[in-house]
Amino acid sequence: MPVKTSSADVKILNAGQDDLPAIQDIANTIWYEHYPGIISHRQIAYMLALDYSLDAMNEDLAMGISMDKLIVDETLAGFAAYGPTGREEVVKLHKLYLLQSFHGQGLGSMFLAHVEDECRKRGYKSIILNVNKNNHDAIKAYRRNGYANQQSVLADIGDGFFMDDYVMTKML
Ligand SMILES: CC(C)(COP(=O)(O)OP(=O)(O)OC[C@H]1O[C@@H](n2cnc3c(N)ncnc32)[C@H](O)[C@@H]1OP(=O)(O)O)[C@@H](O)C(=O)NCCC(=O)NCCS
Repeated sequence: MPVKTSSADVKILNAGQDDLPAIQDIANTIWYEHYPGIISHRQIAYMLALDYSLDAMNEDLAMGISMDKLIVDETLAGFAAYGPTGREEVVKLHKLYLLQSFHGQGLGSMFLAHVEDECRKRGYKSIILNVNKNNHDAIKAYRRNGYANQQSVLADIGDGFFMDDYVMTKML
């Protein structure tokens, strides 16, 4: 449903296969503007190839992961992905990414609230996510929205790369 915030038209729409090339494109921009200083350029390239190839994202959709797109004044400003965990009533937020020029306006929190509403409608009772321990701005945004640290995880993602994350969670 379109929402009017100050002077901008904000829409959140479900994304499908046809949206994947545009999502891939802004993911590339977002990761290179946001992650240097948190992970190496080599790791950014590796993780983009792993998680944002059209094949990988098509596989996500086929596995029942939902993708939503955030449109601000007809521009694709961000995207989210969330889906089942195998644990009944627990949903995982896999992705929540906004282009840097759209940060700091409350849009991330609005997008997160939309995802949480969708998950509630589907009967989920809690939501979990992984966030890099050095991704301080994202951790701050999640805390502001009621998420708490549950545990730390160090995951080997191959090619000598690791994800050093907090798992954060919130009751829905
Ligand atoms: C994490 C992310 C989605 C949060 O989005 P965001 O829009 O920056 O965050 P919020 O919606 O919570 O915005 C809150 C900020 O906007 C400000 N703001 C301005 N107008 C606002 C409004 N109407 N409502 C709420 N906040 C508003 C707040 O004061 C706050 O500023 P602060 O961070 O300086 O305290 C976004 O920063 C992002 O995409 N980061 C890069 C990718 C990433 O790390 N993703 C998470 C991976 S796990």
